Amino acid sequence: MDLKGKVAIVTGASRGIGKALASTAASLGINLAIAARQEGPLEKTADEIATKYKVQILPVACDVTKLEDLENLVNKTREKYGKIDILINNAGVSSQHPFEKQPLEDFEKLAHTNYLGYVRLIRLVINEMIERKSGAIINMVSGSTLCDPLPRNFIVYSSLKVGLRAFSKGLFWELRDHGIKVTSILPGVTDTDLTGKLKEITADTSRLMTTEAIENAVRFALTVPQNVCPLEIAVINQQTPWTSPVIPFKQAHPEK
Ligand SMILES: NC(=O)c1ccc[n+]([C@@H]2O[C@H](COP(=O)([O-])OP(=O)(O)OC[C@H]3O[C@@H](n4cnc5c(N)ncnc54)[C@H](OP(=O)(O)O)[C@@H]3O)[C@@H](O)[C@H]2O)c1
Repeated sequence: MDLKGKVAIVTGASRGIGKALASTAASLGINLAIAARQEGPLEKTADEIATKYKVQILPVACDVTKLEDLENLVNKTREKYGKIDILINNAGVSSQHPFEKQPLEDFEKLAHTNYLGYVRLIRLVINEMIERKSGAIINMVSGSTLCDPLPRNFIVYSSLKVGLRAFSKGLFWELRDHGIKVTSILPGVTDTDLTGKLKEITADTSRLMTTEAIENAVRFALTVPQNVCPLEIAVINQQTPWTSPVIPFKQAHPEK
């Protein structure tokens, strides 16, 4: 599919996975609106990508937990480009605590950033995609949603990602007749600022992956034929604590 001249919003694009995905989209000729809270790093990223890929880039300071910021992001993008073809919902925060010690204020922040912000932004862009009978939505979920039970000390973060994953699948079924693709990306533990804060997971840094596999997954999702939708793509570390058995026990099989 020729993506040149398409328009994408990428949230959480000032650094980490979002920055890598904004660069990937730009390398495909897609014009961008990129969003994050801190203007300085966001503008620096916009300059870097614009210089390298010669696409148009609009940096918009936006806190995805605030509805008015999301509306402003969508309005500014439409004012500049007249349309939104692709939404890459990626902004996210993490929080690693045993549940009984997790600060109470964390719950609202996690829910508003990692779940509600995604759902609200999709709602704000979806009607024009339905009218045009085309569009692509990519939601950054998490490889932790593949674990059952969820990884210890991450149950609030991971359970919201489970909800996002379920929402994304449901959204695909609801929108597929309108020609809109909805893809969940499930990354493993990736070397970004977010994981830099996760002490136990990053104790052995050789387990971490770079953003490269995630970029390839998103490139794949955006370039498949129009009548196909990669519903979920998991790119998991070859070695990660989360994919080893969470409850080590020997299952007793009946003797033959
Ligand atoms: N790294 C991993 O191992 C991993 C694994 C699975 C899933 N993920 C998911 O991948 C996504 C990106 O993670 P990352 O590792 O790239 O994190 P990161 O390096 O910490 O980057 C997070 C990005 O999101 C922005 N952001 C945070 N809160 C925001 C808010 N309220 N409004 C707008 N922007 C906000 C940050 O900019 P500002 O601070 O300036 O707002 C930054 O651009 C997240 O959804 C995360 O849950 C990451």
